[in-house]
Amino acid sequence: MLGRDKNLQRFIDAAEAGIQARAADFPDAMLMATRVFSAMKDTGEADVKNAPARLDACRHLESAYSQARNGPDPIANLTDAFIAIEPALAWNRRPEAAQLAGDFFDNHANAIVVGKGGLEARQDVLIGVSLVAPAITYPRHHHPPEELYIVLSPGEWMQDDHPMVPKRSGDLVHNPPNVWHSMQAMKVPLLAIWCLWVGA
Ligand SMILES: [Fe+2]
Repeated sequence: MLGRDKNLQRFIDAAEAGIQARAADFPDAMLMATRVFSAMKDTGEADVKNAPARLDACRHLESAYSQARNGPDPIANLTDAFIAIEPALAWNRRPEAAQLAGDFFDNHANAIVVGKGGLEARQDVLIGVSLVAPAITYPRHHHPPEELYIVLSPGEWMQDDHPMVPKRSGDLVHNPPNVWHSMQAMKVPLLAIWCLWVGA
C-alpha cells in the first residue's frame, strides 16, 4: 500500500478534528463520521490522472479563506490544511450547471479531494469541497448517500425544504440519505467541505 501524501493526511486529520470538535452539537452525524474516518485510516491509491485546474469562481477563494480563518481553531487549521492541497485539485462545475438559468454556472466551483477525480482514488468515501460566490444559491439537490458538510465560510443552508438557516464557520450539516438540501452564499463566498459514505 502506498503512503499518503503528508499534506493530504493533514487535511484529512484536520477535517476529522473539525467534526469531532462539534460532536456534542451534532450527535446524529457521528455514526457516519466514524465510518468515514475509520475507513480513511487505510490509504487508497494515489490518483494522478486529473490535471490541477482552477475555474473563474476560484477568484473567491481568498475571501472565503479569510472568513474561515475567523472561525474556531479547528476550522482555521482545516483552512490552512486545505490551502496546502488546493493547488493540486481539479476544480469543476456541477455536472448539470450548464442547463441551469442564471449566474450559477460561473459562480460556483467544486473539487473532489478523495474519491474518483480527486487526489486519492477509492470506492468507499468521497470527500470534496464546494465554493459558491456571494449572493448565489447552490441548487436544491438530493442523493442516496448520506452526507456531512463542514461549514468553513458562513452562509445559509436549507434542509428537507425547511426555510434557510444561517450556518457559521465550524457548523456541521448532516443530510440523511435522499434529503433535499441546498445552500446560499450571502455577502461573502460560501466554502464548505463535504464527505459522503459511498461504501457498502
Ligand atoms: Fe449534497
